[in-house]
Amino acid sequence: MTVFLWLLVISLGVVFFGVVLIGPPFVPALRRDTEALFEALNLGDRDLLVDLGAGDGRVLQLAAERGAKVSGVEINPFLVFAAWVRLRRFKGSVVLGDMWKYRLPEGTTHVFAFSAEVFMNKLERYLTTQRSHTGELTVLCYGFRFRGREPEKVIGAFNCYRF
Ligand SMILES: C[S@@+](CC[C@H](N)C(=O)[O-])C[C@H]1O[C@@H](n2cnc3c(N)ncnc32)[C@H](O)[C@@H]1O
Repeated sequence: MTVFLWLLVISLGVVFFGVVLIGPPFVPALRRDTEALFEALNLGDRDLLVDLGAGDGRVLQLAAERGAKVSGVEINPFLVFAAWVRLRRFKGSVVLGDMWKYRLPEGTTHVFAFSAEVFMNKLERYLTTQRSHTGELTVLCYGFRFRGREPEKVIGAFNCYRF
C-alpha cells in the first residue's frame, strides 16, 4: 500500500511539474477574464476555438456554453480526464498529446494560449506553420506577448493577435 501511494505521488509530481521542460505548468485561467474575453469577441457558433494546453477544459467549457465548437490538446492524462468530464455534454474534446506536434483542426478560428514567456517564440513559430492549412487565426494569449509583434487588440489580460 505504501509503495503504491509513493508511486502515485511520484507520478503526479512528474506529470504536473515535469511538464515545465516542454511547456507551461498547469495554472487555470481566471473565469472572469475568460468570460469577459469571449463576450468582447462575441464568440459563438460560427467559431472553432482550440486551447493549446487545455488543462482541465474550463476554458473550452465556457466557449462551448456560448455555442462555439471546441477542441484542445493536453499532455497531462489526469487533466485530459478532467476535461473529458467537463465537456461530456458538449461536442468538443481534448486529446492527450504534445501541443508542439498537434495539427490544428481545419476551420480553427481562434487559438487560446495560456503559455509562459519562455515558450512564446516557440509558440509563434508553431502558429506560423499551422496557419498554412487553417486560414486566418485569432490568437488569444493570456498575459504574455510575442516579442516584436504588436497585438491587434488587448482585451483585459489578453493580447489578441491575427496570424
Ligand atoms: C497555464 S496552463 C493553462 C490551462 C488552460 N488552458 C487554462 O487556461 O485554464 C498550461 C497547460 O498546458 C499543458 N501543457 C504544457 N506543455 C504541454 C505540451 N507540450 N503539450 C500539451 N499540453 C501541455 C499543461 O499541462 C497545462 O495544463
